Order: sequence, then C-alpha cells, then structure tokens
Amino acid sequence: MKGVILAGGLGTRLHPLTKITNKHLLPIYDRPMIHYPLLTLVGAGLRDILIVTGGNHAGEFLRLLGNGKEFGLEDIAYTYQEGEGGIADALSLARHFADGEKIVVMLGDNIIEGDIKRSVQAFADQPGGARLLLKRVADPGRFGVPEFRDGRIVSIEEKPRNPKSDYAVVGVYMYDPTIFDIIATLKPSERGELEITDVNNAYIKRGDLQHDVLEGWWTDAGTFESLFRANQLVREKKIETLTARLG
Ligand code: DAU
Repeated sequence: MKGVILAGGLGTRLHPLTKITNKHLLPIYDRPMIHYPLLTLVGAGLRDILIVTGGNHAGEFLRLLGNGKEFGLEDIAYTYQEGEGGIADALSLARHFADGEKIVVMLGDNIIEGDIKRSVQAFADQPGGARLLLKRVADPGRFGVPEFRDGRIVSIEEKPRNPKSDYAVVGVYMYDPTIFDIIATLKPSERGELEITDVNNAYIKRGDLQHDVLEGWWTDAGTFESLFRANQLVREKKIETLTARLG
C-alpha cells in the first residue's frame, strides 16, 4: 500500500497569505502544515509516499522535506499539478506512482489528533473498493456529507445547503487501483473541478465503500477560521502531551 498527499491548488481562500507561498507550507503552531499529513501517513506505516503539489512555489516542498529523512523515509516522490482542476484531478497524477497498488490519500490541509492505523489495517484486509473516514461536525455544509440508510452510506453530497446528516467526510481516503478508471470518467462540477465526492459516489453505486468514524479531533485549514482553529488545537494538544509527560 502506498501513500499520497494532495498539496496542489492555489489556496485562494487564504489570500493574501498564499500569494507568496503554498498553503501547505504555512505554519500550524510549530510545524509547516504539510508535516501533519506526512506524520499521519508515516504513523500508519506507509513508507512509499507521493506529494502532489502545484502553483508557483512547488520547489519549496523539496527544500523543506528533501527525501524525508527527518520522517524516517528513504525518499519522497513528488509530482506537479497544473492549475486547480480539483482533488480528483490532482489524484489522477498518482496513477504511475501507485502502479496497481492500493493507496491511502490525505489532503495536505487536513490535521487529525489521533492516528489512522486501525482503518488502514482494515482497508489492507478489505478485498478492494474504498474506505472513508467520517467525523461528526457542527458545520457539515462546508464538507462532503454522507446520507445513511441502515448504517450504510447511500450517497455523499458536496457542500450541501441542507445536509442529510451531521457527519463530514474527512480528507483521508483509501482506494483500490480502480480509482484511476473512475477518475477518467468524471466531468468537472459547477465549480469547474473533478470532485472527490463523485469518485466516492461511484464506489457507493458499486456497493464497494466502507467507512469508519474517526476518533479524536479533526480539522481542515483552508480558511482563515479553520487555519486559526488548527493552530489552537495543535497547541493545546502539544501542551497536554507535555504536561502528561512531566507528570
Ligand atoms: O477537508 C475535507 C473536505 O475536503 C471534504 O469533506 C470535501 O468533500 C472535499 O471536497 C474537500 O473540500 P474543500 O473544498 O475544503 O477542498 P479544497 O478545495 O480546500 O482542497 C483541499 C486540499 O486538496 C488542498 O489543501 C490541496 C488539495 N487540492 C485541492 C484542489 C482543488 C489539490 O491538490 N488540487 C486541487 O486542484
């Protein structure tokens, strides 16, 4: 199984902060944002990792992360997304890297408190299909939102006006190699992007999508409010951990 971090896009919701750097290089308390998804994937035992980046500051990722020695990796693979064609468009660039293996994908602006080891293990044991992580949130309309019937997800809507549940689809997705054939069938949405929600709905239609509910907090960091919140959550967690260690 291989890991993919999506750190493309232009981060326009964070202008002017992202005029002179890539969103995923902005600080979240004491680390650049990209460190967090990288630590999550490495913590789940993934050793082959691809970073998809884009925009005008892509070279900075190489300067920051190099071959990933700091994370115990032998190397890191990088690729470049032109423009901002959406999450599924960025993911399509991972086809060659995935080379027929299952992948665990994490959005570069997602930060979680705990780990994803159990879900990754469950996905490894799954014959194929997809596996998502969900989290109950106060503002589901900002995210992909699942609708449930008898405990199973029957559809996902992207940023719905009237959410059908109070769960959000977290930016951690696990897919079998057929993902790339699904992406090839997608059409751009109203916002002009290839949507990851359309990919997930294709797996639902096939009856091939499992999910887990994530433990611990989760946040994205793509708006000023969520960026600020991410800093607060990481800071609180660091202090809590330090206090516990000191007894
Ligand atoms: O955070 C979870 C949410 O992420 C999900 O619940 C939604 O279903 C999903 O669509 C996504 O929503 P956002 O609209 O918040 O995604 P955003 O456009 O902010 O992109 C999130 C990350 O994906 C971004 O930090 C980098 C990567 N990305 C995004 C785009 C549009 C790319 O690599 N390339 C892209 O073209």
